[in-house]
Amino acid sequence: MRKLLVTGAIAAASLATAAVAIAAGTTPHPPHKHWHFQGPFGTYDRAAAQRGYQVYQEVCAACHSLSLLAYRNLMELGLTENQVKDLIKDIQVPDLNDDGQPIERPARPSDRFKKPFPNEAAAAAANNGKAPPDLSVIVKARENGPDYIHALLTGYVPFDKLTPEQIKEFAVTKDDNFNTYFPGHKIAMAPPLSDDKVTYADGTKATTDQEASDVVEFLAWASEPHMEDRKRTGVRVVLFLLAMAGLMYAVKRSVWSDKH
Ligand code: HEC
Repeated sequence: MRKLLVTGAIAAASLATAAVAIAAGTTPHPPHKHWHFQGPFGTYDRAAAQRGYQVYQEVCAACHSLSLLAYRNLMELGLTENQVKDLIKDIQVPDLNDDGQPIERPARPSDRFKKPFPNEAAAAAANNGKAPPDLSVIVKARENGPDYIHALLTGYVPFDKLTPEQIKEFAVTKDDNFNTYFPGHKIAMAPPLSDDKVTYADGTKATTDQEASDVVEFLAWASEPHMEDRKRTGVRVVLFLLAMAGLMYAVKRSVWSDKH
């Protein structure tokens, strides 16, 4: 009986492993890209992140909030206060007037990024039942965040390019959005980017790939604005420890020099 149980458990475990392997097998790993901010000395590419803000503001902000950021945080991307004011001059945010009546007023640098929907239920209702997630920490919340989000934004396959097997296996209809990198492939977000979706002020050519890279640079910064300080501190600590180790070695040598 015991043996039977053990065999049963092993069989169940291997079945579960196989199921996981199959599930994992359907969503390929996102291709690895080189990101300016990775590695122990990596920093954010300010120009790319500023372009990424433009992509977020002109495209993604229609559906996704970025609730942990205030507009004045953009100054950390190398913009002056006046440049930030200029960037947000057309954004209207909800507020209350002196009589407590709801009004819309122009955004100020101290305002948090404007939310596209009043709450989650309204967000879901406007997006086929799936609320677009807040993007403040999305780069950290997904495995291989930068590579995954870049792959997701560039990984849509139009219905007429799908194989009959894919259509059958994932029960895709013409109204679905098929994404190679989204788990389960059917995603409630229609392809948000396309070539020339935005016009960059610095003359960079706005291909889909470029827009995706730039918005990832911006979202990576949004999810960890103090990464550069953290890395600088780390480097200083390592240098200090190296110097200290050298000093201690010299002290040890001199203390023991006449004991041999
Ligand atoms: C028209 C609305 C809309 C726009 C515009 C839009 N999204 Fe989405 N997005 C959604 C919805 C809805 C979901 C939830 C999809 C789901 O769970 O099926 C989503 C999900 C996501 C996810 C999470 C995917 C995951 O792994 O769960 C990311 C990342 C994302 N969007 C990034 C972006 C970026 C970056 C932009 C701008 C370039 C953008 N989105 C523009 C509606 C939108």
